[in-house]
Amino acid sequence: MAEKFHVPRITFHGLGSFENLKEVPGKKAIIVTGKSAMQKAGYIDKAKKILEDKGMATAVFEGVEADPSIETVMKGVEVFNKEKPDVIIGLGGCSAIDAAKAMWIFYEYPDYTFEDIIVPFGIKPLRNKAIFVAIPSTSGTGTEVTCASVITDRANGTKHPIVTYEITPDYAIVDGELCKTMPDNVTADTGIDALCHDCEAFVSTMSDYYTDPVALKSIDMIFEYLPKAYKDGNDLEARQVMHDASCLAGMAFTNALLGIVHAMAHQLGGMFGIPHGRANALLLPNAIRFNSKSTDKYNIIARHFGLTTAEEFAAKVEGLRKSVGVEDSIKEYGINEALWLEKLDAITEHASKDACIGCNPRTASLDEIKNLFQACYKGEKVNF
Ligand SMILES: NC(=O)c1ccc[n+]([C@@H]2O[C@H](COP(=O)([O-])OP(=O)(O)OC[C@H]3O[C@@H](n4cnc5c(N)ncnc54)[C@H](O)[C@@H]3O)[C@@H](O)[C@H]2O)c1
Ligand SMILES: [Fe+2]
Repeated sequence: MAEKFHVPRITFHGLGSFENLKEVPGKKAIIVTGKSAMQKAGYIDKAKKILEDKGMATAVFEGVEADPSIETVMKGVEVFNKEKPDVIIGLGGCSAIDAAKAMWIFYEYPDYTFEDIIVPFGIKPLRNKAIFVAIPSTSGTGTEVTCASVITDRANGTKHPIVTYEITPDYAIVDGELCKTMPDNVTADTGIDALCHDCEAFVSTMSDYYTDPVALKSIDMIFEYLPKAYKDGNDLEARQVMHDASCLAGMAFTNALLGIVHAMAHQLGGMFGIPHGRANALLLPNAIRFNSKSTDKYNIIARHFGLTTAEEFAAKVEGLRKSVGVEDSIKEYGINEALWLEKLDAITEHASKDACIGCNPRTASLDEIKNLFQACYKGEKVNF
């Protein structure tokens, strides 16, 4: 079967590329954004002006919360139905963009239920009513180029990924200037999330000649520039390189998919509320050690840095995460031990069923997942 490499039709990138919004065709745009960061930084007004100057009408849906809920998505759909946009612009963190992606599906297909749209690759073709533009203000998830959107079901305390290449945006605008105001902890967490996307895509059973070089380059960029962006948020060169690295990581993983780090991290997020990137950071080094028994691809990454073994690379990741303020263990992060032990079997079970685990290079038994969780909780190195 032929393989495919999915990316947006056009990705504008570079400092100042926000202006390229003027190249998006359409009659009426709706901008979907978060609570205040983009408004305060002036990007909502700037977007409106760029679009209105070329004769496009505009509307705004504001207030998407972090980890957006089904209710927020439905509120947005009502506004879409009233405004009838032919261009949807997700502007802000991944939460805002992901909410906009889900609104887009219900706008095009009002009869779908939430259960319908979470069936992987299950929805009908979009773009009958609108095209999609993604302008991220965090450098991590790569949602501007990916086939994914994550929506939270607050009533049941679970996160649902919507996965379909239909929601890969038509245009991505990757302008590092938007990231200047990102708080330090968000810079660190989202940057390590991107590194995980690279590492997981690189060793995934779905990786190929298209995804490998993209992931490898992005890893180089993150090791060099994440500490700089973390140290000085106004370092625009570092902000842009991290934004590009995150976008490249998105291109790699939307095609090669992910692995055990994300499968386990989703549980740390769902059960204990640990931010997505931080959860990944706490797990990645031990996952490298575990997977290295089944793949020698970490040696290729290690060689990039003048190192030899997967263990040396895992230690290098530990050094990077320490330099951006990430704890050495889940315990140190602050999860109570009694609570941890009470939930351990449940998160192990859920991780073993997470869709991400299917492409991991090594099959993990329930015992192995549990032991991995335990080692990451205590801050011990795994050797199995
Ligand atoms: N779609 C995907 O492929 C994918 C992949 C991984 C995770 N996710 C999901 O993405 C969400 C997390 O997204 P995120 O990490 O981008 O964070 P986010 O969008 O939730 O934003 C985090 C916080 O930072 C603020 N913020 C964002 N950009 C800012 C800026 N430039 N200046 C100041 N403040 C800013 C937001 O307002 C928010 O309070 C989670 O719901 C997660 O499950 C999606
Ligand atoms: Fe991620």
